[in-house]
Amino acid sequence: MAKNKLETEFSPVFRRMTVEDIDQICIIEEESFSSPWTAAAFYNEIVNNHFAQYVVMEWEGQVIGYGGMWTIIDEAHITNIAIRPQFRGKRLGERLLLELQTLACFYGAVKMTLEVRVSNKIAQRLYEKMGFSAAGFRKAYYSDNQEDAIIMWADLPDCSPGGPSSGLSGGNSGIGPGGGRKRAGR
Ligand SMILES: CC(C)(COP(=O)(O)OP(=O)(O)OC[C@H]1O[C@@H](n2cnc3c(N)ncnc32)[C@H](O)[C@@H]1OP(=O)(O)O)[C@@H](O)C(=O)NCCC(=O)NCCS
Repeated sequence: MAKNKLETEFSPVFRRMTVEDIDQICIIEEESFSSPWTAAAFYNEIVNNHFAQYVVMEWEGQVIGYGGMWTIIDEAHITNIAIRPQFRGKRLGERLLLELQTLACFYGAVKMTLEVRVSNKIAQRLYEKMGFSAAGFRKAYYSDNQEDAIIMWADLPDCSPGGPSSGLSGGNSGIGPGGGRKRAGR
């Protein structure tokens, strides 16, 4: 069967999220989450939170996914990850998470954690595939329906210079300390 353009020529670009992205991000938030973050929440993360690292995945000029995390000492805490619905199932979530893992490594993180709804089996499968394991629960963590969260953790590969994963890169990524683009508002 012939593959469509997306499957054959797909080469998304990763870059830092800026305040100019927030309108597009909020549309994807609404499409993806029962309790979407507000534009003000994203603005605060991008401009004011010095622990926060937010990345967008772009294809043909449109934002098709994004993710973020807080990097604190040697731990990275994923806050958010979403792929635009029509772009799901194309291994883009996997690529986005790999980008975040690589970025976290560069910032010195050796472990990564996140919370996921017990009902979100798709995300859980993605995380397990990317090396995460369940480590516990947060009871009634989600305020919209009192759903429990599963806490997951992953060990990150060694990204020190010369380490086994030092060549890890998100491909078209301009992201990374000292290189590429700077975050807006800093
Ligand atoms: C979770 C999400 C980011 C996954 O992105 P995606 O690009 O569709 O996922 P990928 O195509 O990269 O799939 C990677 C893996 O995830 C799992 N997965 C993805 N879609 C799946 C589906 N429909 N059913 C079961 N597993 C699925 C599989 O393990 C898959 O690996 P495989 O293809 O080798 O089986 C996306 O579904 C999304 O944006 N969901 C809404 C927001 C959300 O729930 N975010 C997570 C909050 S914790």
